[in-house]
Amino acid sequence: MLTPGVLQQDEALGRPSTPAPALGESGFGRDLLSALATRPRSISPKYFYDAVGSQLFDRICELPEYYPTRTELAVLERHVGEMAALAGPSAEIVEFGAGSLRKVRLLLQAFAAPARYVPIDISGDYLGEAATALRAEFPRLDVHPVAADYTQRLVLPPARGRRVGFFPGSTLGNFTPAEALEFLQRAGEVLRGGALLLGADLVKDPGLLHAAYNDAQGVTAAFNLNLLARANRELGTDFDLDQFAHYAFYNAPHRRIEMHLVSRERQSVRLGGKRFELEEGESLHTENSYKFTVDGLRALARRAGFRPGPVWTDPQRLFSVHWLHAPEGETL
Ligand code: AVJ
Repeated sequence: MLTPGVLQQDEALGRPSTPAPALGESGFGRDLLSALATRPRSISPKYFYDAVGSQLFDRICELPEYYPTRTELAVLERHVGEMAALAGPSAEIVEFGAGSLRKVRLLLQAFAAPARYVPIDISGDYLGEAATALRAEFPRLDVHPVAADYTQRLVLPPARGRRVGFFPGSTLGNFTPAEALEFLQRAGEVLRGGALLLGADLVKDPGLLHAAYNDAQGVTAAFNLNLLARANRELGTDFDLDQFAHYAFYNAPHRRIEMHLVSRERQSVRLGGKRFELEEGESLHTENSYKFTVDGLRALARRAGFRPGPVWTDPQRLFSVHWLHAPEGETL
Protein backbone atom coordinates (compact mmCIF):
# COMPACT_ATOMS: atom_id res chain seq x y z
CA MET A 1 0.00 0.00 0.00
CA LEU A 2 1.22 3.45 -0.86
CA THR A 3 0.56 6.29 1.49
CA PRO A 4 -1.60 9.16 0.23
CA GLY A 5 1.49 11.38 0.09
CA VAL A 6 3.21 9.04 -2.35
CA LEU A 7 0.09 8.63 -4.47
CA GLN A 8 -0.02 12.38 -4.98
CA GLN A 9 3.56 12.34 -6.19
CA ASP A 10 2.79 9.51 -8.59
CA GLU A 11 -0.25 11.22 -9.98
CA ALA A 12 1.66 14.44 -10.52
CA LEU A 13 4.58 12.90 -12.33
CA GLY A 14 3.42 9.57 -13.66
CA ARG A 15 4.73 6.21 -12.58
CA PRO A 16 8.32 5.60 -13.64
CA SER A 17 8.61 2.83 -16.24
CA THR A 18 11.92 1.66 -14.74
CA PRO A 19 12.74 2.13 -11.07
CA ALA A 20 16.23 3.36 -10.15
CA PRO A 21 18.31 0.16 -10.37
CA ALA A 22 20.07 0.23 -6.98
CA LEU A 23 17.01 1.03 -4.91
CA GLY A 24 15.39 -2.36 -4.48
CA GLU A 25 18.64 -4.08 -3.58
CA SER A 26 19.74 -1.51 -1.04
CA GLY A 27 18.37 -1.47 2.49
CA PHE A 28 19.29 2.21 2.60
CA GLY A 29 17.25 2.93 -0.53
CA ARG A 30 14.20 1.08 0.74
CA ASP A 31 14.42 2.66 4.18
CA LEU A 32 14.94 6.18 2.81
CA LEU A 33 11.98 5.67 0.49
CA SER A 34 9.73 4.67 3.36
CA ALA A 35 11.16 7.51 5.49
CA LEU A 36 10.19 10.01 2.82
CA ALA A 37 6.76 8.43 2.38
CA THR A 38 5.87 8.45 6.10
CA ARG A 39 5.11 11.28 8.54
CA PRO A 40 6.83 12.08 10.81
CA ARG A 41 9.87 11.15 8.76
CA SER A 42 12.59 9.08 10.37
CA ILE A 43 15.40 6.76 9.36
CA SER A 44 17.74 4.43 11.21
CA PRO A 45 21.07 5.96 12.35
CA LYS A 46 22.84 2.84 11.09
CA TYR A 47 22.97 4.54 7.67
CA PHE A 48 25.34 7.23 8.98
CA TYR A 49 28.24 4.80 8.73
CA ASP A 50 29.50 4.65 5.18
CA ALA A 51 33.25 5.28 4.76
CA VAL A 52 32.82 9.07 5.03
CA GLY A 53 30.44 8.79 7.97
CA SER A 54 32.72 6.39 9.83
CA GLN A 55 35.59 8.87 9.42
CA LEU A 56 33.40 11.72 10.67
CA PHE A 57 32.39 9.60 13.65
CA ASP A 58 36.07 8.99 14.44
CA ARG A 59 36.52 12.77 14.45
CA ILE A 60 33.51 13.18 16.75
CA CYS A 61 35.19 10.82 19.21
CA GLU A 62 38.16 13.22 19.40
CA LEU A 63 36.08 16.38 19.96
CA PRO A 64 36.52 18.23 23.26
CA GLU A 65 32.72 18.29 23.77
CA TYR A 66 32.21 14.58 23.02
CA TYR A 67 33.06 12.99 26.37
CA PRO A 68 31.74 9.39 25.89
CA THR A 69 34.65 7.84 23.98
CA ARG A 70 37.51 9.08 26.12
CA THR A 71 35.55 8.51 29.32
CA GLU A 72 34.67 4.92 28.43
CA LEU A 73 38.27 4.24 27.38
CA ALA A 74 39.50 5.54 30.73
CA VAL A 75 37.00 3.35 32.61
CA LEU A 76 38.03 0.30 30.57
CA GLU A 77 41.73 1.02 31.07
CA ARG A 78 41.32 1.43 34.77
CA HIS A 79 39.24 -1.69 35.38
CA VAL A 80 40.24 -4.09 32.60
CA GLY A 81 42.05 -6.30 35.12
CA GLU A 82 38.80 -6.92 37.00
CA MET A 83 37.05 -7.57 33.69
CA ALA A 84 39.73 -10.08 32.67
CA ALA A 85 39.32 -11.88 35.99
CA LEU A 86 35.56 -12.11 35.45
CA ALA A 87 36.05 -13.37 31.88
CA GLY A 88 38.53 -16.07 32.91
CA PRO A 89 40.97 -17.82 30.54
CA SER A 90 40.22 -18.68 26.88
CA ALA A 91 37.12 -16.52 26.60
CA GLU A 92 35.66 -15.80 23.20
CA ILE A 93 35.06 -12.08 22.69
CA VAL A 94 32.03 -11.28 20.50
CA GLU A 95 31.83 -7.61 19.61
CA PHE A 96 28.55 -6.14 18.37
CA GLY A 97 29.56 -3.48 15.85
CA ALA A 98 33.31 -3.52 15.38
CA GLY A 99 33.91 0.20 15.25
CA SER A 100 36.23 0.46 18.20
CA LEU A 101 39.56 -1.29 17.74
CA ARG A 102 41.06 0.83 20.51
CA LYS A 103 38.56 -0.45 23.03
CA VAL A 104 38.66 -4.15 22.19
CA ARG A 105 42.46 -4.00 22.02
CA LEU A 106 42.41 -3.29 25.77
CA LEU A 107 40.44 -6.49 26.36
CA LEU A 108 42.57 -8.56 24.00
CA GLN A 109 45.72 -7.45 25.81
CA ALA A 110 44.35 -8.02 29.30
CA PHE A 111 42.29 -11.22 28.92
CA ALA A 112 44.15 -14.51 29.47
CA ALA A 113 44.67 -16.19 26.06
CA PRO A 114 41.35 -15.26 24.45
CA ALA A 115 40.07 -18.22 22.37
CA ARG A 116 38.77 -16.10 19.54
CA TYR A 117 37.63 -12.61 18.61
CA VAL A 118 34.35 -12.43 16.65
CA PRO A 119 33.56 -8.89 15.48
CA ILE A 120 30.08 -8.50 13.95
CA ASP A 121 29.64 -5.47 11.75
CA ILE A 122 27.36 -4.26 8.97
CA SER A 123 30.35 -2.95 6.99
CA GLY A 124 32.29 -5.86 5.50
CA ASP A 125 35.02 -3.52 4.25
CA TYR A 126 35.65 -2.06 7.65
CA LEU A 127 35.61 -5.53 9.23
CA GLY A 128 38.22 -6.80 6.80
CA GLU A 129 40.58 -3.95 7.61
CA ALA A 130 40.04 -4.32 11.33
CA ALA A 131 40.63 -8.08 11.19
CA THR A 132 43.86 -7.64 9.23
CA ALA A 133 45.15 -5.07 11.72
CA LEU A 134 44.33 -7.25 14.71
CA ARG A 135 45.83 -10.42 13.20
CA ALA A 136 49.09 -8.54 12.70
CA GLU A 137 49.01 -7.27 16.24
CA PHE A 138 47.87 -10.50 17.92
CA PRO A 139 49.40 -13.30 15.78
CA ARG A 140 48.11 -16.07 18.04
CA LEU A 141 44.56 -14.73 18.11
CA ASP A 142 41.87 -16.36 15.97
CA VAL A 143 39.97 -13.44 14.40
CA HIS A 144 36.65 -14.48 12.90
CA PRO A 145 34.73 -11.48 11.47
CA VAL A 146 31.02 -11.81 10.76
CA ALA A 147 29.51 -9.36 8.27
CA ALA A 148 25.95 -8.98 9.49
CA ASP A 149 23.43 -6.45 10.72
CA TYR A 150 23.21 -7.27 14.41
CA THR A 151 20.04 -5.17 14.68
CA GLN A 152 18.30 -7.76 12.49
CA ARG A 153 19.46 -11.16 13.71
CA LEU A 154 22.44 -12.77 15.37
CA VAL A 155 24.01 -15.56 13.39
CA LEU A 156 27.24 -16.77 14.95
CA PRO A 157 29.57 -19.70 14.45
CA PRO A 158 29.47 -22.31 17.28
CA ALA A 159 31.13 -20.96 20.45
CA ARG A 160 34.84 -21.68 21.02
CA GLY A 161 34.89 -20.89 24.71
CA ARG A 162 33.01 -18.95 27.34
CA ARG A 163 31.56 -16.05 25.42
CA VAL A 164 31.98 -12.47 26.52
CA GLY A 165 29.90 -10.07 24.44
CA PHE A 166 31.28 -6.56 24.05
CA PHE A 167 28.92 -3.71 23.19
CA PRO A 168 30.74 -0.45 23.98
CA GLY A 169 30.10 3.18 23.07
CA SER A 170 26.51 3.33 24.32
CA THR A 171 25.38 2.14 20.91
CA LEU A 172 22.52 0.50 22.83
CA GLY A 173 21.22 4.08 23.17
CA ASN A 174 20.34 4.09 19.47
CA PHE A 175 17.57 1.57 20.17
CA THR A 176 14.15 2.43 21.56
CA PRO A 177 13.59 0.86 25.00
CA ALA A 178 11.59 -1.95 23.37
CA GLU A 179 14.31 -2.57 20.78
CA ALA A 180 17.00 -2.46 23.48
CA LEU A 181 15.13 -5.11 25.45
CA GLU A 182 14.80 -7.28 22.35
CA PHE A 183 18.47 -6.85 21.44
CA LEU A 184 19.55 -7.78 24.97
CA GLN A 185 17.32 -10.86 24.94
CA ARG A 186 18.83 -12.05 21.68
CA ALA A 187 22.35 -11.23 22.87
CA GLY A 188 21.63 -13.23 26.03
CA GLU A 189 20.79 -16.24 23.90
CA VAL A 190 24.07 -16.24 21.96
CA LEU A 191 26.09 -15.45 25.11
CA ARG A 192 24.38 -18.09 27.23
CA GLY A 193 26.48 -18.97 30.27
CA GLY A 194 28.89 -16.12 29.54
CA ALA A 195 28.50 -12.39 29.97
CA LEU A 196 27.95 -9.08 28.24
CA LEU A 197 30.30 -6.14 28.81
CA LEU A 198 28.15 -3.14 27.97
CA GLY A 199 28.94 0.58 27.79
CA ALA A 200 26.05 2.93 28.58
CA ASP A 201 26.07 6.72 28.58
CA LEU A 202 24.50 8.23 31.70
CA VAL A 203 21.90 10.95 32.21
CA LYS A 204 23.60 14.18 33.25
CA ASP A 205 23.40 17.98 33.03
CA PRO A 206 21.43 18.60 29.81
CA GLY A 207 23.88 21.37 28.93
CA LEU A 208 26.74 18.87 28.75
CA LEU A 209 24.63 16.52 26.66
CA HIS A 210 23.60 19.34 24.35
CA ALA A 211 27.20 20.44 23.82
CA ALA A 212 28.31 16.89 22.97
CA TYR A 213 25.93 16.82 19.98
CA ASN A 214 26.36 20.48 18.98
CA ASP A 215 30.12 20.79 18.78
CA ALA A 216 31.72 24.12 17.94
CA GLN A 217 33.58 22.75 14.90
CA GLY A 218 30.40 21.43 13.31
CA VAL A 219 31.66 17.87 12.94
CA THR A 220 28.41 16.42 14.34
CA ALA A 221 26.46 18.57 11.88
CA ALA A 222 28.59 17.22 9.01
CA PHE A 223 28.06 13.67 10.33
CA ASN A 224 24.29 14.19 10.36
CA LEU A 225 24.24 15.83 6.90
CA ASN A 226 26.40 13.02 5.50
CA LEU A 227 23.27 10.88 5.52
CA LEU A 228 21.91 13.05 2.71
CA ALA A 229 25.30 13.22 0.98
CA ARG A 230 25.46 9.43 1.11
CA ALA A 231 22.00 9.20 -0.46
CA ASN A 232 23.16 11.54 -3.23
CA ARG A 233 26.23 9.33 -3.81
CA GLU A 234 24.52 5.95 -3.63
CA LEU A 235 20.88 6.43 -4.50
CA GLY A 236 20.90 9.26 -7.02
CA THR A 237 18.91 11.63 -4.83
CA ASP A 238 19.36 15.36 -5.30
CA PHE A 239 19.38 16.62 -1.71
CA ASP A 240 20.71 20.19 -1.47
CA LEU A 241 22.71 19.94 1.74
CA ASP A 242 22.77 23.71 2.23
CA GLN A 243 19.00 23.63 2.59
CA PHE A 244 19.03 21.36 5.67
CA ALA A 245 19.91 22.32 9.23
CA HIS A 246 21.50 19.99 11.79
CA TYR A 247 19.28 20.09 14.86
CA ALA A 248 20.16 18.12 18.01
CA PHE A 249 18.54 18.56 21.42
CA TYR A 250 18.03 16.69 24.67
CA ASN A 251 14.48 15.41 25.06
CA ALA A 252 14.41 15.16 28.85
CA PRO A 253 11.08 13.29 29.24
CA HIS A 254 12.46 10.55 26.99
CA ARG A 255 16.02 10.84 28.32
CA ARG A 256 17.41 10.96 24.83
CA ILE A 257 19.30 13.18 22.45
CA GLU A 258 17.39 13.52 19.21
CA MET A 259 19.09 14.44 15.97
CA HIS A 260 17.13 15.84 13.07
CA LEU A 261 17.75 17.32 9.65
CA VAL A 262 15.35 20.23 9.28
CA SER A 263 14.35 21.55 5.88
CA ARG A 264 15.22 25.27 5.66
CA GLU A 265 12.66 25.87 2.92
CA ARG A 266 9.93 24.16 0.98
CA GLN A 267 11.79 21.85 -1.38
CA SER A 268 11.51 18.51 -3.11
CA VAL A 269 13.86 15.59 -3.56
CA ARG A 270 13.98 12.86 -6.17
CA LEU A 271 14.30 9.22 -5.20
CA GLY A 272 13.64 6.17 -7.32
CA GLY A 273 11.77 8.10 -10.00
CA LYS A 274 9.48 9.86 -7.53
CA ARG A 275 9.62 13.33 -6.07
CA PHE A 276 8.91 14.00 -2.42
CA GLU A 277 7.95 17.38 -1.01
CA LEU A 278 9.51 18.69 2.17
CA GLU A 279 7.79 21.60 3.87
CA GLU A 280 9.74 24.48 5.33
CA GLY A 281 10.62 23.40 8.88
CA GLU A 282 9.82 19.75 8.28
CA SER A 283 12.27 17.31 9.82
CA LEU A 284 13.86 13.99 9.04
CA HIS A 285 14.56 12.34 12.41
CA THR A 286 17.97 10.68 12.02
CA GLU A 287 18.95 9.47 15.49
CA ASN A 288 17.93 8.86 19.07
CA SER A 289 20.67 8.50 21.63
CA TYR A 290 19.12 7.34 24.89
CA LYS A 291 20.86 8.09 28.17
CA PHE A 292 20.61 5.71 31.12
CA THR A 293 20.76 5.63 34.87
CA VAL A 294 22.87 2.84 36.37
CA ASP A 295 19.81 1.36 38.06
CA GLY A 296 17.64 1.74 34.98
CA LEU A 297 20.17 -0.08 32.82
CA ARG A 298 20.48 -2.90 35.36
CA ALA A 299 16.70 -3.24 35.54
CA LEU A 300 16.50 -3.42 31.72
CA ALA A 301 19.24 -6.07 31.66
CA ARG A 302 17.42 -8.07 34.33
CA ARG A 303 14.22 -7.98 32.30
CA ALA A 304 16.20 -9.36 29.35
CA GLY A 305 17.33 -12.31 31.51
CA PHE A 306 20.80 -11.09 32.54
CA ARG A 307 22.07 -11.07 36.11
CA PRO A 308 23.77 -7.68 36.59
CA GLY A 309 27.29 -7.84 38.02
CA PRO A 310 29.84 -5.09 38.71
CA VAL A 311 29.42 -1.59 37.28
CA TRP A 312 32.31 0.78 36.68
CA THR A 313 32.01 4.53 36.13
CA ASP A 314 34.33 7.53 35.93
CA PRO A 315 34.59 9.84 38.96
CA GLN A 316 32.15 12.34 37.38
CA ARG A 317 29.68 9.54 36.59
CA LEU A 318 29.46 10.56 32.95
CA PHE A 319 29.58 7.01 31.56
CA SER A 320 29.04 3.48 32.85
CA VAL A 321 30.41 0.06 31.95
CA HIS A 322 28.39 -2.96 33.07
CA TRP A 323 29.25 -6.61 33.54
CA LEU A 324 26.06 -8.55 32.90
CA HIS A 325 26.01 -12.32 33.47
CA ALA A 326 24.17 -13.99 30.60
CA PRO A 327 21.44 -16.50 31.42
CA GLU A 328 22.63 -20.08 32.05
CA GLY A 329 21.16 -23.21 30.50
CA GLU A 330 18.01 -23.65 28.52
CA THR A 331 15.05 -21.32 28.42
CA LEU A 332 12.29 -21.14 25.86
C1 AVJ B 1 27.61 5.74 18.33
C2 AVJ B 1 25.31 5.93 18.85
C3 AVJ B 1 26.91 6.03 20.57
O1 AVJ B 1 24.80 8.44 20.19
O2 AVJ B 1 26.60 9.36 20.90
C4 AVJ B 1 27.60 10.75 18.06
C5 AVJ B 1 26.51 8.44 17.71
N1 AVJ B 1 25.70 10.71 17.07
N2 AVJ B 1 27.26 12.00 17.77
C6 AVJ B 1 26.00 8.64 20.13
C7 AVJ B 1 26.62 9.92 17.62
C8 AVJ B 1 26.12 11.97 17.15
C9 AVJ B 1 26.81 7.89 19.06
N3 AVJ B 1 26.65 6.42 19.19
